[in-house]
Amino acid sequence: MAAVLGPERKQALRAYVEYFHDLGVYDFYRRSEATYEEASQSVPPAAAEERRPVAAAEKPAERPVERVATPAVASSIFEESTIPVPVSFDQLAPLPTETIAPQKRAAALQVIQDEIGDCTRCPLAFAGRHKIVFADGDPNAELMFVGEGPGADEDVQGLPFVGKAGQLLNNMITAMGLAREQVYIANIVKCRPPQNRVPEPAEANTCTPFLLRQMDIVRPRVVVALGATAATYLLGRKSSLGSLRGHWHSCRGAKLAVTYHPAFLLRDPRQKKETWKDLQMVMAELGLKAPVKSAN
Ligand code: URA
Repeated sequence: MAAVLGPERKQALRAYVEYFHDLGVYDFYRRSEATYEEASQSVPPAAAEERRPVAAAEKPAERPVERVATPAVASSIFEESTIPVPVSFDQLAPLPTETIAPQKRAAALQVIQDEIGDCTRCPLAFAGRHKIVFADGDPNAELMFVGEGPGADEDVQGLPFVGKAGQLLNNMITAMGLAREQVYIANIVKCRPPQNRVPEPAEANTCTPFLLRQMDIVRPRVVVALGATAATYLLGRKSSLGSLRGHWHSCRGAKLAVTYHPAFLLRDPRQKKETWKDLQMVMAELGLKAPVKSAN
């Protein structure tokens, strides 16, 4: 349970956090730098398949030092620490027996957004975030995409997947014969992690109950987990993306497919072919057909 802070204590806490920022400390839950470095060194290059979209690609000064946790790094940190392995969304709470009527879903989602408010439940609230990125899309969507967390563009606009990775996601959605407005898009965490690092377990675990409730309202038929962080938390399993792709999982009454994160595809476009296979599996399930390309 998050403690409710009065305005004075909130202000005092913010002041403290700003003081630490001045000292260059941004990540209050981060384990020692040494642990990250050790872990990154133990990752073979092939396993270092996924890193967060780096706004620093546009702004080199902000590029994170080589301590961004890859899935494999994240796994090794889980293994050797006391941080519990995430619990799957299905284990977190029973699936509600009744669904919300389609015309009431937008209002039900608004209730959650209001409850989140100007959230200060985890350290991301004090780590430079500007906007909380709730979600985007159709509250009655049959297809839902779940990413990792907002990047720089999303943090400014308050919408998920609106930067370069978002443009690629839009293209993927179009290739499936859908429009972005027809799907629902959300993330594991709703606030931008500093320097686009992978969310810490404490941050993800604080935020995911809201995502779970969003899923229970929208009740998509199919969920696509974009990348290892989404797959890890949705499924409660820290497996390689390779072993999770290519077959169905289940999550909150939906069929769940795992594919590469669009930010990873921007770095390694060769994997787009593999992603298209994953999306075709989804399309077959939803009875979607790729639009016919016009000759001109
Ligand atoms: N990457 C994500 O995982 N989510 C976003 O919203 C944007 C980039």
